[in-house]
Amino acid sequence: MLKNKHILLVVAGGIAAFKALDLIRRLRERGAEVTPVLTTSAEEFVTPLSISALSGNKVYRDLFDLTAEAEMGHIELSRAADLIVVAPATANIMAKMAQGLCDDLASTLLLATDKRVMVAPSMNVRMWEHAATQRNVATLKNDGVLFVGPNEGDMACGEYGPGRMAEPLEIVDAIERAFQTGPLSGKRILVTSGPTHEPIDPVRYIANRSSGAQGTAIAQALNALGAEVVFVTGPADIAPPSGVEVRKVQTAGEMLAEVEDALPCDAAIFAAAVADWHIDGASASKIKKQAGALPTLKFAENPDILAKVSKMGKGRPGLVIGFAAETDDVIAHAQAKRDRKGCDWIVANDVSPETGIMGGAENAVTVISDAGIDPWPRMTKKQVAVRLAQNIAKALEG
Ligand code: CTP
Repeated sequence: MLKNKHILLVVAGGIAAFKALDLIRRLRERGAEVTPVLTTSAEEFVTPLSISALSGNKVYRDLFDLTAEAEMGHIELSRAADLIVVAPATANIMAKMAQGLCDDLASTLLLATDKRVMVAPSMNVRMWEHAATQRNVATLKNDGVLFVGPNEGDMACGEYGPGRMAEPLEIVDAIERAFQTGPLSGKRILVTSGPTHEPIDPVRYIANRSSGAQGTAIAQALNALGAEVVFVTGPADIAPPSGVEVRKVQTAGEMLAEVEDALPCDAAIFAAAVADWHIDGASASKIKKQAGALPTLKFAENPDILAKVSKMGKGRPGLVIGFAAETDDVIAHAQAKRDRKGCDWIVANDVSPETGIMGGAENAVTVISDAGIDPWPRMTKKQVAVRLAQNIAKALEG
């Protein structure tokens, strides 16, 4: 619920501005008060009248509007809100924010505010991927600006890729989370999840049976306790949780790159079933069948992401948790793995086919840490996730 929360909604000029109308409705349904600000170009996409009617508030548009200034000056406007949300956030307004430019009401409010700011980017995929935009994104994240989306999908311009604005309900979720005061609020936690796919050629790959269920449940449970979660996932069977920052990868190499990019974090949980090897010299074109000749695959070792992060010294997350999926001598192997990789806790489980754990809904884990060996009863993966999230909250608090 967003009862009595005051949101200053800056609508910039992108095709997704029409979704701002639905966003206003959803926010008001949850009890929020919405004060809208339109940029000049936003008025090409939505009318001030429709925005005003839905918000039940005056629409602010002009930095030099004498009446508006007399009623509530722009500095006061920028401070009266509990949160400023920019949706859609165009490449232009993000560039202005990153540079501290203030040549209209919206950008001036964003520079003058002392409140948190959340952006929901929306732009063409090439504009999103452009080095300049990515530089601005990094600057804004570093400044503490919260991000929701963009999502991947079909675009109004006919192209496909990341750049679609997050849906209104996803933005509402992110706003609710920004106001959450759970035990993990203010903590940034990284979770890896799912299998990795290591290509043999453009159509074939090496994979494993991980469904991503345990990692997804952990990300969800951490998010429910108020954490900001970065979810780095291989191609999993189940959809990533909502309300977390999702980074999709295919290979172990890509997973390492996203993990390094997501740091620094307060804690990191490595639930992914990372392939130990990739194919050395994977073929760039489809390998053709040849009579009497079998292809030979040459393996090369993948980076051990957990070990790398555990041993990184400066910038290491305060709590690093690994998983040990074993089929025999579970505890002994897990203890050795914890020592070898250098993580703080290791969550060991028996993934022999008869346990039904790999790909199933339940898990039976033993958590090994400096405090000793703690066997948990068999329970659902969701329950394991909730208990683990609670233990993480306690550890980060202490
Ligand atoms: N892990 C990782 N990067 C790898 C391999 C594993 O980050 N290249 C992480 C997993 O996410 C998990 C832990 O290390 O948290 C243990 O993974 P597991 O596959 O059980 O261990 P391996 O090192 O692969 O050992 P083995 O396969 O020999 O049991």
